[in-house]
Amino acid sequence: MTRYEDMQRELKATLRTWLVTGCAGFIGSNLLEALLKLDQTVVGLDNFSTGFQHNLDGVRALVTPAQWQRFRFIKGDIRDLDTCRQAVKGVRHVLHQAALGSVPRSIADPLTTHQSNVDGFLNLLLAARDEPVQSFTYASSSSVYGDHPDLPKFEDKVGTPLSPYAVTKKVDELYMDVFARSYGFKAIGLRYFNVFGPRQDPDGAYAAVIPKWIAALIKNQPVYVNGDGETSRDFCFVANAVQANLLAATVKDDAALNQAYNVAVGDRTTLNELYEHLRSNLAQQFAHLQGAKPQYRDFRPGDVRHSQADISKASRLLGYAPTHRVDEGLAQAMGWYVAHTQV
Ligand SMILES: NC(=O)c1ccc[n+]([C@@H]2O[C@H](COP(=O)([O-])OP(=O)(O)OC[C@H]3O[C@@H](n4cnc5c(N)ncnc54)[C@H](O)[C@@H]3O)[C@@H](O)[C@H]2O)c1
Repeated sequence: MTRYEDMQRELKATLRTWLVTGCAGFIGSNLLEALLKLDQTVVGLDNFSTGFQHNLDGVRALVTPAQWQRFRFIKGDIRDLDTCRQAVKGVRHVLHQAALGSVPRSIADPLTTHQSNVDGFLNLLLAARDEPVQSFTYASSSSVYGDHPDLPKFEDKVGTPLSPYAVTKKVDELYMDVFARSYGFKAIGLRYFNVFGPRQDPDGAYAAVIPKWIAALIKNQPVYVNGDGETSRDFCFVANAVQANLLAATVKDDAALNQAYNVAVGDRTTLNELYEHLRSNLAQQFAHLQGAKPQYRDFRPGDVRHSQADISKASRLLGYAPTHRVDEGLAQAMGWYVAHTQV
């Protein structure tokens, strides 16, 4: 039995209360689904800035009425300290996902990104420290590696951030460290690498590449590649990110705390490879995609050129073992997008 299976069995037997911030968003709603399916009690906090009621409705459709009864939603903003204090009341584990994602959004509007990602983070950290909660796990990002050239990325070798977004995630990690030193409050940061999967928003200027491309391909709209297409990413299916969160929240080894971990698969896929994978798979259902080609345009400022994680630290200290390689995750994500895209 893997550590994850072991932990899931343990959770089923001991009901706990969790706070998932950003629960109406992509990763947050997947965490909510996983926790409710394990019969846990969940408080969710979201201001619907980039999350949706339809994500919550989607989770509701996948759990039993009794499981849904264990969910309490607070519509509120982490930029408000009192809201954070209310949300952590009686909570044992915090999974903090609420933030404004997207490098280009942060370049267009650094102040709003900072307010949610740093001020909001600090509010929640303070509230969790004072409650006190038993564990605090939060979403960091591979963007903290910035301009560091090494591949794969090891947690202790980071470069200079390349965007305001990356700065916010780096500051979060610095606060984690200082809260451990100053108050003995220990958290775990998860550096997600390009997570994808069901309920990830395909629309809007700041949509992530996989849902955006799948939707464009299905609708026969142009697919734009920023740069020459040889930019690469370690795409990570959301089930792997869920696993990392639950393992981090329940880890028993003290040495695993006050650390940041890569959450990825350890593979590298170029944008050209990704395009061809998506196109050829969808072409089996959508005839207009036979021979379709993407359109190339300029590189995007702030984007890291290559990204690939070493995941041995998470494997060693958390027992993390990704269940989905990229193609397995893409098969599930595409199934979901085909079912949920209106042509
Ligand atoms: N998706 C990825 O590939 C990826 C990669 C690295 C890091 N991350 C981080 O993971 C977390 C979740 O990302 P996601 O992809 O699910 O994004 P998402 O936009 O789908 O979810 C974020 C959620 O947080 C909520 N939110 C934002 N600001 C808030 C505020 N001030 N108060 C309350 N709620 C607020 C949004 O409404 C949304 O529901 C974020 O912290 C993001 O920075 C994601």
